[in-house]
Amino acid sequence: MSKDAAAPQAGGERLVPMRLQRFLARAGAASRRGSENLMTAGRVRVNGEVVTELGAKVDPLVDEVTLDGMPVRLPAEPVYLMLNKPAGYLTTMSDPQGRPCVASLVPRKRYPGLFPVGRLDKDTTGLLLFTTDGTLAQNLLHPSKHVDKHYVALVDGVVDENGLEPLRRGIELDDGPCQPARARVLKAREALSVCPYGVPSGDTCVEVVIHEGRKNQVKRMLGKIGHPVLRLHRSTFGPLELTGVEEGSWRHLAPEEVRKLTQACAHLDKNTL
Ligand code: URA
Repeated sequence: MSKDAAAPQAGGERLVPMRLQRFLARAGAASRRGSENLMTAGRVRVNGEVVTELGAKVDPLVDEVTLDGMPVRLPAEPVYLMLNKPAGYLTTMSDPQGRPCVASLVPRKRYPGLFPVGRLDKDTTGLLLFTTDGTLAQNLLHPSKHVDKHYVALVDGVVDENGLEPLRRGIELDDGPCQPARARVLKAREALSVCPYGVPSGDTCVEVVIHEGRKNQVKRMLGKIGHPVLRLHRSTFGPLELTGVEEGSWRHLAPEEVRKLTQACAHLDKNTL
């Protein structure tokens, strides 16, 4: 299932093969022009051979480049991917009790340092973001910078729009009041992620949009208005939408998605200054 062969780098370009002078510049050896000078001066070797030809290309994943005998490497590009989490998996990269966890669904060996941004409950399905970019993750998880998340919930009992009003006002939970949420009753065709065969009679599908990230928050909010959650699915995370990835699979974020995510953090930064 690996989608890696076609994966673009976060900057929107593929790395291989690349011109040696560009490789040197990207690795911080010198400017592009300076790198050309290093090459023509005979100071750069590829796999032990001096390379002076300015058109020469290297594969950064395979070739060993040295400058004055010292290895030159590209800084590791951060990785961003989304998992369509199935029910039954814990959001953790290891479980001492050996229970199924999301680590087994993502390419953790290929990308050491990959971790989930936030968590979904074991029985919650949908969009879970993974990255190796600690700074971005920290920003996205900081309480003052939480991004909007859309959840689709199948709840016990019949709810109408009025019944959701307490969520819109900001419902009080054990650990304090929630910020006002957006909430609406969904039509059956909008709720296929939790009810692919139709909404059972006596139950209701609702959408809840929150930007906090408290433990079991959506379940507790809906439980508090008397409608326990039967199934829960996350369809968005900030600007990201769960598209193009089947349940149990992952895909790299497109460069445009990474850009929007970074922008969402920057935007929140500005608004919280
Ligand atoms: N809220 C919940 O109650 N559970 C989740 O998994 C995510 C949000």
